[in-house]
Amino acid sequence: MDFNQALLRIATQAASAYISARSLSNPQTRPDTLAGLHLAESGAVPFLEALSQRATQEGDPWLAERLMRHAQDERRHGAIFAQALKRMGRDLIDFQPLRGGAQPRSPFFEKYFEGYSREQLQATHIDWVLMMAATHVLEADASKDFVRMARALPQGDPLQAGMYAIAADEGGHAHYLKEALVRRIGLRAAEEAIENYRVHKTQAILYMVSQMLQSGRLEGPKLTRTTTLAA
Ligand SMILES: [Fe+2]
Ligand SMILES: [Fe+2]
Repeated sequence: MDFNQALLRIATQAASAYISARSLSNPQTRPDTLAGLHLAESGAVPFLEALSQRATQEGDPWLAERLMRHAQDERRHGAIFAQALKRMGRDLIDFQPLRGGAQPRSPFFEKYFEGYSREQLQATHIDWVLMMAATHVLEADASKDFVRMARALPQGDPLQAGMYAIAADEGGHAHYLKEALVRRIGLRAAEEAIENYRVHKTQAILYMVSQMLQSGRLEGPKLTRTTTLAA
């Protein structure tokens, strides 16, 4: 990685953390942000469960067990955001249109998985190395982003403790995914695959921010991360 790439990476990561923390701390955009986080967390569950089943079928119980635990964690994270919405007097029903029908891929994921069709990203087909490396990067950064978002919450907000717990879980997900990658392809190739997705992520954030600036939506609710590859 050269110096420019390093700086660009820091800048884009900071931009995405800023956007998520800001949309969560602003009372106007907070419900949409929480609903978006709920969707991202719960939306990952069926994908992870299907991957776990596939790992079992392929004779890898080690991976199957971790993917199942991962799915359970994401379900719990979704519930934490649903509760936070409820405390604000909002229900997930209010956000139903968000979930109904086929969702367009976010600009972020469009760029992150550029070159892959939706079909190729399904749990039944997805290349394991791609899934592990790409998800590792998202989970590792999500862990840091949730800490920043927790800090941006008003003091004593009951969501704060939940967010710190989520951050710790995401760190655990990043850890086992790297371990899974190393088991599969060895340390050097694993690190190369991860580095490759770090580059993709920087480009995806740049693209997302430019799309948001163009459409004048930088003030609106943002979804800068999700653990679901199918989003
Ligand atoms: Fe999560
Ligand atoms: Fe996670």
